[in-house]
Amino acid sequence: MEEKRGTWGSKLKFVLAAAGSAIGLGNIWRFPTYTGLHGGAAFVLIYIIAVCVVGIPLLIAELTIGRHTQRNPVGAFRAISPKSKWVGLGYLGIITGVFILSYYSVIAGWVIGYIFVTASGSFKGGDEELIRKIFEIVTANPFIPILLLFVVIGITTYIISRGVQKGIEGWTKVLMPVLFLLLVGLAIRSLTLPGASKGIQFYLSPNFSKIDSLVIIGAIGQALFSLSLGMGTMLTYGSYLSKKEDLFSSSLWVAFADTGVAFTAGLVIFPALFTIQGLSPAEGPSLIFKVLPVIFSKIPGGLIFGTAFFILLTIAAITSTISLLEVPTAYFVDEKKWERWKAALLLGFISFLLGFPSALSMGSVKFLSSIPLIKIDFLSLMDIIWGNLSLIIGSLLIAIFVGWKWGVKNAVDEIESSGKRFAFKNIWQILIKFITPLAIILILLNTVYNYFVK
Ligand code: TRP
Repeated sequence: MEEKRGTWGSKLKFVLAAAGSAIGLGNIWRFPTYTGLHGGAAFVLIYIIAVCVVGIPLLIAELTIGRHTQRNPVGAFRAISPKSKWVGLGYLGIITGVFILSYYSVIAGWVIGYIFVTASGSFKGGDEELIRKIFEIVTANPFIPILLLFVVIGITTYIISRGVQKGIEGWTKVLMPVLFLLLVGLAIRSLTLPGASKGIQFYLSPNFSKIDSLVIIGAIGQALFSLSLGMGTMLTYGSYLSKKEDLFSSSLWVAFADTGVAFTAGLVIFPALFTIQGLSPAEGPSLIFKVLPVIFSKIPGGLIFGTAFFILLTIAAITSTISLLEVPTAYFVDEKKWERWKAALLLGFISFLLGFPSALSMGSVKFLSSIPLIKIDFLSLMDIIWGNLSLIIGSLLIAIFVGWKWGVKNAVDEIESSGKRFAFKNIWQILIKFITPLAIILILLNTVYNYFVK
């Protein structure tokens, strides 16, 4: 007999789990990193538009496919469209999950390293030179980053192999609001530092001449990454959702919470950033690790708040890594009838190995730290390929699938099966059928034209 598929206990539990997947390093590490690289406020503006035009419609689409089919991505596309090429989209999601997990866990490892560095009082005095050195101690040698990567993947694999992620949502319910409050407190300190106005201007006053197709691609990619879209994570989470729940309002809550956390993280990083000598917004992946300690060194109780912050950020990261590992694991369990622990262990091990070059790309191996010709580090390259391009292509295909293959009418029927009318159904249909895919296609074509043809 088939085991009954688990469902979320209530709407709140579902929103918490989905928000737990969405909120993570994407908000606190990736959003400031990309905002800094792409010129500040203009990027923020496009990001917010992308959340509304691409993010929320797709979030609804993924949850709807998941709830309708009650399956992992491969099974879901196969169920709606048997014997077609659409299953390939499910496989793309599974591969993407493993690759994102590989480098995401490297950064989560740095965060764990920073718990210890902060707790040991190393940032006292806020000596900026020292703070830069500490980043190197944690990341620029072959041993510590790989050990920390092992710890992150180990915890994630353990949780997924036991299938206990739902136990974790219990305490994230308490801890995530605490993380948010800490962020708000840090934002207040950052905004009141002498010299903060330069950063506020960079973050909030858009310079429209900075907008080009790379900025827009980056912003769309960031919206998808932050909401865990484009590879079937939300589809898988939706498959555990009961028919009673109102998909639309759940989606809005998740998007709202996720965007709120990212925006606040920017308010922490940018005002402080411009008060630090020799640090530029385009610092790349190390940005927040160089700015946050300076803020902690300038607040009373910085040692305790700093340590607590990195602990909470670790937990936020783990609720995201488990959602990344859950997708491929669900595939092997559902489709290949593997035992859960076996699937989790194998996939965790693969991600661990795939994470090596990223872990070694912050100075310990020269070739990986600045790849010849493209001159970026391996971790950033992985993030561009899997965290941007693959999610964008996956999302484009999901929108086309729902809009044109499965059909918006079937999707709306599924959404309304909760018994509640989907008030924005006309807008959603137009978005998912035309606007979302067209926006993505145009911007991809424009980028190809700008960078390869012109
Ligand atoms: N959204 C998470 C974050 O912001 C990361 C994440 C989890 C993710 N699952 C995903 C990103 C699926 C893309 C796709 O940290």
